[in-house]
Amino acid sequence: MNHKGRHTLFATRMRLNAVALTAALILSAPAFAGGDVEAGKAQAAPCGACHGQDGATGLDGTYPALAGQNEKYLLRQLKMIQSGARELPMMTGQLNGKSDADLANLAAYYASLPPKLGQAAGDDASIALAKSLYMGGNLKKGIAACAACHSPTGIGNAPAGFPRLSGQSVDYTVAQLTAYREGKRQTDEDYGHMMRDVAATLNDTEIRALADYIHGVN
Ligand code: HEC
Ligand code: HEC
Repeated sequence: MNHKGRHTLFATRMRLNAVALTAALILSAPAFAGGDVEAGKAQAAPCGACHGQDGATGLDGTYPALAGQNEKYLLRQLKMIQSGARELPMMTGQLNGKSDADLANLAAYYASLPPKLGQAAGDDASIALAKSLYMGGNLKKGIAACAACHSPTGIGNAPAGFPRLSGQSVDYTVAQLTAYREGKRQTDEDYGHMMRDVAATLNDTEIRALADYIHGVN
């Protein structure tokens, strides 16, 4: 075999190895089948009483928008809310008796709905403060840029399960950032408590400004 032939054979083997490796990775990865949107829809009517039938118009600003939130994030939260690892007084009893498949279907359904954009209502100074924190963080205070994980447009990172923030209800976001800061929300444990670290040095003014900015970011 001449030199060129050997090289081609080698390249072919490499490609085959890569294919075999990819197949092995796919087979060994835990199956994330994703839920069934229609089955989720069939269970979602009671949720709509508080979160809005469109999943994006809660009764007031303390009710989170679920529409367009990514499936991985939603499913993790639903499991933690059901087990009590995330204590949400208003959600008490809402997930009783639901199987893992039911929760996956609900997550798939809400992820499939179109998100609703909001608009920031703060004054210029508040929006400028929030934008600079969101896009660039604050090195001195050890605040990482929100955009790095939640994306500059607030869509989050679906494969990683980082939540969408764009359009989220303002009072709900204030409550979450405050809860992370005080260590009361610990659902970021799997992620090395990154949100508790991010929120640790945020003051109330910054939290309000960020929540208002996030509502409109897109
Ligand atoms: C009685 C009103 C009410 C009903 C009914 C309700 N929720 Fe909620 N839900 C809330 C409120 C309020 C919150 C915000 C946390 C809190 O203050 O308890 C919340 C939080 C959530 C969250 C966390 C959102 C996030 O961004 O982390 C998810 C997910 C959720 N609800 C899904 C559901 C689903 C699915 C149903 C139906 C099976 C449902 N909810 C029914 C009021 C309700
Ligand atoms: C290093 C990645 C990372 C950075 C930086 C980051 N976040 Fe997060 N954020 C996450 C993850 C992961 C979660 C979900 C954690 C959980 O399950 O509690 C989250 C959750 C949130 C939530 C809760 C969403 C909901 O629906 O309940 C809010 C609000 C939030 N982040 C805002 C921010 C803001 C504001 C900043 C910047 C000041 C920021 N994040 C910076 C990764 C990050």
